[in-house]
Amino acid sequence: MKTLIIYASMHGCTQQAAEKLKPELSGEVKIQNLKEKTPVFIDAFDTVIIGGSIHAGRIQKSVINFCKNNLEILLQKKVGLFICCMDKNRAQEQFDNAFPDLLRRHARAKGLFGGAFDFNKMNFLQKAIVRKVSGIEQSVEKINKQAISDFVHQIQ
Ligand SMILES: Cc1cc2nc3c(=O)[nH]c(=O)nc-3n(C[C@H](O)[C@H](O)[C@H](O)COP(=O)(O)O)c2cc1C
Repeated sequence: MKTLIIYASMHGCTQQAAEKLKPELSGEVKIQNLKEKTPVFIDAFDTVIIGGSIHAGRIQKSVINFCKNNLEILLQKKVGLFICCMDKNRAQEQFDNAFPDLLRRHARAKGLFGGAFDFNKMNFLQKAIVRKVSGIEQSVEKINKQAISDFVHQIQ
C-alpha cells in the first residue's frame, strides 16, 4: 500500500500535521508540498491524502487547483481530506467550502486537525489581522492529535 500526503502550508502548521500523520500510516508514505515544482504522480499511489490551511475563510488556491485538475483520478483512489485552522466554530463550514462536493462525499477520512498561530512567521498585516479577529497576542500551537488518530482509523 502506497500513500501520498499532499499539502499546502503558509507558516508550517499543515506541514507539521502532515509529518505527525505520516508515521501513523502503514505501508510506504510519501509527503509532498504543493509549493514544490516537482510534478505529482498520483497514479503510483493507492491512497491520496490532501491537506491545506484556512486563511480568510479559504483554503490555498494550489489545493483547490490540485483537487479540480485531478478530480477524476482521485475519485478512483482511497482519499483523505484535512484542514488546519484556528476558528473551531467555523471549522466544519470552512472544510466543506475547501473541497469539491464530489470529493468530500467520496473521501473515506475527513479531518479538522486544529491549527497554530506563529507570530514569528507572520508579516505585519497578518499579525494585525490575527490580533483583531482572534484576540490572541502570542504564538500558540493547537494541533489536535486525537483528530489525527481518528483520521488514521478512518482511512485504514
Ligand atoms: C492572516 C491569517 C488569517 C487566518 N484566517 C483564518 C480563518 O479565516 N479561519 C480560521 O479558522 N483560521 C484562520 N487562520 C488560522 C490558520 O488557519 C492557522 O494559523 C493554520 O494553522 C495555518 O496553517 P499553516 O501554517 O499550515 O498555513 C488565519 C491565520 C492567519 C495568519
